[in-house]
Amino acid sequence: MVPPIFSIFLTTSALSFLPLLSSAQNTSAQQKGAQCCKLLTQAFPSKVAQNGTTAYTVDDTDFWSTSEWLSPSCIFQPTESQDVSDAVKLFVENDCEFAIRGGGHSAVPGAANIDDGILITFANMKNISIHTDSQDVQYVSVQPGAVWGDVYTYCDQFAVVPMCGRYYPVGTGLALGAGFSFLSNANGFAVDNIKTYEAVLANGAIVEVSQTNSPDLFRSLKGGGNNFAVVTRYDLLLYPGGPVVGGQITTPENQTEKWLDLTYDYSVRQAVLDVNTHALPAILYMAGTDEVITNTPVYYNSHNSSVLPPIMAGWYNMTALNDTVRQASYAALALEFNENQGDGQFQEQRTYTITANREEYARVWYSFLKWGRSIGNVTGLTLLHCNMPLTPRMMNAGVEKGSNSLGLAGTDDVLSILYFGLSLDTYNETIVNSFNSLFDTLQSGSKSRGLLNPYIMWNYAGLGQDIFLSYGQSSLNFMKEVSKQYDPTGVFQRLVPGGFKLF
Ligand SMILES: Cc1cc2nc3c(=O)[nH]c(=O)nc-3n(C[C@H](O)[C@H](O)[C@H](O)COP(=O)(O)OP(=O)(O)OC[C@H]3O[C@@H](n4cnc5c(N)ncnc54)[C@H](O)[C@@H]3O)c2cc1C
Ligand SMILES: *[C@@H]1O[C@H](CO)[C@@H](O)[C@H](O)[C@H]1NC(C)=O
Ligand SMILES: *[C@@H]1O[C@H](CO)[C@@H](O)[C@H](O)[C@H]1NC(C)=O
Ligand SMILES: *[C@@H]1O[C@H](CO)[C@@H](O)[C@H](O)[C@H]1NC(C)=O
Ligand SMILES: *[C@@H]1O[C@H](CO)[C@@H](O)[C@H](O)[C@H]1NC(C)=O
Ligand SMILES: *[C@@H]1O[C@H](CO)[C@@H](O)[C@H](O)[C@H]1NC(C)=O
Ligand SMILES: *[C@@H]1O[C@H](CO)[C@@H](O)[C@H](O)[C@H]1NC(C)=O
Ligand SMILES: *[C@@H]1O[C@H](CO)[C@@H](O)[C@H](O)[C@H]1NC(C)=O
Ligand SMILES: *[C@@H]1O[C@H](CO)[C@@H](O)[C@H](O)[C@H]1NC(C)=O
Ligand SMILES: *[C@@H]1O[C@H](CO)[C@@H](O)[C@H](O)[C@H]1NC(C)=O
Repeated sequence: MVPPIFSIFLTTSALSFLPLLSSAQNTSAQQKGAQCCKLLTQAFPSKVAQNGTTAYTVDDTDFWSTSEWLSPSCIFQPTESQDVSDAVKLFVENDCEFAIRGGGHSAVPGAANIDDGILITFANMKNISIHTDSQDVQYVSVQPGAVWGDVYTYCDQFAVVPMCGRYYPVGTGLALGAGFSFLSNANGFAVDNIKTYEAVLANGAIVEVSQTNSPDLFRSLKGGGNNFAVVTRYDLLLYPGGPVVGGQITTPENQTEKWLDLTYDYSVRQAVLDVNTHALPAILYMAGTDEVITNTPVYYNSHNSSVLPPIMAGWYNMTALNDTVRQASYAALALEFNENQGDGQFQEQRTYTITANREEYARVWYSFLKWGRSIGNVTGLTLLHCNMPLTPRMMNAGVEKGSNSLGLAGTDDVLSILYFGLSLDTYNETIVNSFNSLFDTLQSGSKSRGLLNPYIMWNYAGLGQDIFLSYGQSSLNFMKEVSKQYDPTGVFQRLVPGGFKLF
């Protein structure tokens, strides 16, 4: 039974045409979601994809991990910021739960999708355009539905590049966490190179958030994920672009020790001495073939050559199975790196941070591999381990550029972000629980050896990891205050339940 819907004039909103649900109802989540969708469809007849339609199914499965394939009541596909503003007002007035999806690459269940609520996607907001401000600063404006590969493709034409994700289909949500880019050794995280966010606040206001306009909210958005607003536009600073030299170097298992040497050398020497270097040291285990390969994207900025320069020549020391290093565009590299990273597997991921240390790198990887081999031949089981440095320059770039929430400024050591990924054809609770307890063991091992840094990188974190506390108590307190100021009734805490939450 659908209760009567009252049309009440909304004093808090300019939208007198938006209907309201009765406040006295007590319905199941599914009925509630259906009612919210009915109201939304009345307000936006052509912008809501209904359950059972192709548009719904396509959008609902556009996620990297099957852990995000949920059952939203309907999918809202706005075409402009005003739509988002109007919809947020409707959701708040009617207590409708919703989720926000960028590129759908978070593996955290429910981070960017929802059961029995409304999923907002930006399938119809993918515009990308380059502008110059009154101070002659060039930037690219990106709507939240664009993926980074499209941004590279667009910017490559003008030989400029922003600081964003390195894999083609990854989305803009990355720029609300921290964000590693090709140019991070020089310029810091992606969040540190945002000029302006356009954001829809809990009261529906559409605001420009920058260093000069709401600097407290600006700082909080840089690391705060979906806790403050729906971001409707990202303006990213631009740098001189490609073509550049880059590719992937793939080796067999017997090169692991050299790969560990190179990962350490890259972290404490290459990345520190030459900010144009970039690598994403990665190693995989595939249970189906019981095979280990190292597979490292390597890259050097501003280099008109088809080979890596001397500072990175060590990467050629390994006996490779494949080496694709060549002169290439950013878009081509982003496409290549994403090969074999497609949607449709169940993914679980976790991360922690240590002070760079060669012995610890080896301990961690060999323990992870030993665990993988102990599970046996489970179809599709793949382990991915990545080791990505944070240099002092990177961490301090944030302060110079208006600060972020990450709490990393002032660190003098090179840190290593350790990523642990598990892929399976289908979810298996026993294996996931075992993976998570192995992760806890590794993390406490690093802690007992005095190497653990508290930072947990939002972008690579998994369900239940305490991201915001990892930024430090003072940063967390600051973010909570900012939340109370811009979202006093906790809309982004209550009505947007997915992902990492502040409260
Ligand atoms: C193959 C692969 C490659 C990757 N490469 C990189 C890399 O090079 N560098 C790096 O730093 N990270 C990388 N990541 C990690 C990546 O940063 C995270 O997965 C990030 O969550 C992706 O953003 P998204 O928009 O695709 O995700 P989504 O799952 O759509 O969103 C992630 C979170 O952000 C929120 N969000 C998204 N859009 C908005 C919005 N407009 N307003 C408010 N909240 C929003 C969502 O609600 C969700 O909680 C990679 C991940 C994968 C799987
Ligand atoms: C709503 O329904 C639930 C279960 O049917 C019941 O426990 C609860 O007391 C009801 N709440 C109100 C406000 O009626
Ligand atoms: C969508 O439709 C299917 C098939 O009719 C149904 O089983 C499912 O419960 C519906 N999902 C939602 C969220 O209403
Ligand atoms: C979309 O981007 C193009 C350039 O890429 C620009 O000309 C156009 O004005 C933009 N449209 C909107 C609605 O932002
Ligand atoms: C390393 O492994 C590869 C592939 O298995 C093999 O061809 C090569 O001979 C091995 N090299 C050494 C030094 O063992
Ligand atoms: C794992 O199982 C598959 C399917 O049964 C089989 O083809 C494969 O050879 C097995 N791999 C190993 C390493 O035993
Ligand atoms: C890059 O090098 C090639 C040949 O070595 C040359 O033709 C080309 O002009 C160079 N490009 C730039 C931008 O310097
Ligand atoms: C690569 O090999 C060269 C020559 O053997 C050696 O001098 C250099 O130290 C090695 N570099 C790394 C990072 O292993
Ligand atoms: C090397 O990688 C390229 C690009 O992914 C691929 O086309 C090629 O087949 C690979 N070669 C080998 C030997 O694996
Ligand atoms: C999950 O994995 C375990 C360990 O490999 C296996 O014994 C079990 O059968 C799997 N469960 C399912 C439901 O596939």
